[in-house]
Amino acid sequence: TTGNTTLDPGYTNTASCESSITFIDGAKGILRYRGYPIDQLAEKATFLEVAHLLIYGQLPTDDELSEFTDRITTRSMLDERMRDLFRCFPRRSHPMQVLASGVNALATFNADALDPHDPEHVESATIRLLAQMPTLAAYAYKNSVGDPFLYPQRRLGYVENFLRLSFGNPTEEYELDPAVVRAFETLFILHADHEQNCSTSTVRMVGSSQANMYASVAAGVNALSGPLHGGANQAVLEMLGHIRDEGLDAKSFLDKVKDKSSGVKLMGFGHRVYKNFDPRAVIIKKHAHEILSAAGKSNKLLDIALELEEIALEDDYFVERKLYPNVDFYTGLIYEAMGFPTSYFTALFALGRLPGWIAQWREQLADPAGKIGRPRQVYIGEPERDYPSK
Ligand code: SDX
Repeated sequence: TTGNTTLDPGYTNTASCESSITFIDGAKGILRYRGYPIDQLAEKATFLEVAHLLIYGQLPTDDELSEFTDRITTRSMLDERMRDLFRCFPRRSHPMQVLASGVNALATFNADALDPHDPEHVESATIRLLAQMPTLAAYAYKNSVGDPFLYPQRRLGYVENFLRLSFGNPTEEYELDPAVVRAFETLFILHADHEQNCSTSTVRMVGSSQANMYASVAAGVNALSGPLHGGANQAVLEMLGHIRDEGLDAKSFLDKVKDKSSGVKLMGFGHRVYKNFDPRAVIIKKHAHEILSAAGKSNKLLDIALELEEIALEDDYFVERKLYPNVDFYTGLIYEAMGFPTSYFTALFALGRLPGWIAQWREQLADPAGKIGRPRQVYIGEPERDYPSK
């Protein structure tokens, strides 16, 4: 070591925080939102109920839910000038980069309501982000395929509106499939929060400087886009497609993963916290089977995923390292079966994670003792030295 590289004993960095929102037991594969087990919420709740639970701390009564839904539905339209902004992006733009730009731009259209310590401004940003991020994501997708943008419809529910904005067109009524709507409610719920993961820590870190909620969430979108984090759902589909297209067999692919010099990872496996099954992956796997068999087509990629999982769970390399399927291993298969392009998958993750980002940001800003994020480091560089005399 060089010099005094130990941290002062009393130092606590912002990466560790107290929160009452989400509980995870990584060893036991337990996940609870405000005390409710994830499997009960995934099966019984709607996404907006869970968003209310995460943000305000309690499941809403029927009246509270209808008021909450109304406030969101009536604000889901974007300022018309946002269309011009979106039309500037090249069609090949990645939806996550467009989404992050769009979220940041929302702050410019709400410039008089950005104070993180004004409860009305915080509530306004909360509702506008929940209302408008699905519209932004749908615009990002429509822009990438060159299709016309639609307007949200107040008669539709949250998930229904998003699906119609993404796949509908102005010339005909969009047919909503109730099974797809329910699957999306569940998928969004499963992604809604996950305590201090990379993107949520980013939202808290940016918010700790008292930057506004839009800026903090835009930073979270960017952090989520990385392939080791939310970008993994896209990377899993690309990995499965590579195995299929190259005619590889699952075992030889896993041998390549085990050879560290290959630099190949089993995407959708492993987790910073879960050293047991990710409870979300267990639920999603069940849905993948239901959705794909309902789609009535044999899915080669699902077969490859199931074979990879079966072999890996019996293989010492993965067992010793406690590597299990995580939330991203099966989600992409469902999104693909629903017609979403792989580049859009991570934007779907962001829409699910939004209530968690908002809840965590609000919790941190409400803490009167809140300090600016400033993790310390252990210095391992050169010891002091003098500038050479010439
Ligand atoms: C998400 O934090 C969250 O909560 C995130 C998330 C959320 O909801 O917000 O759950 C969402 O980001 C899920 C993770 C999605 N990412 C991936 O699927 C990408 C593939 N996974 C890996 O990159 C990795 O598992 C991480 C990044 C997720 C975790 O990395 P770690 O903490 O370094 O993993 P580890 O310490 O448990 O690794 C132990 C060993 C290491 O090998 P050794 O040095 O001991 O020999 O396992 C190896 C790692 O190299 N390893 C893998 C691997 N993951 C870890 N080897 C092959 N394939 C993998 N996927």
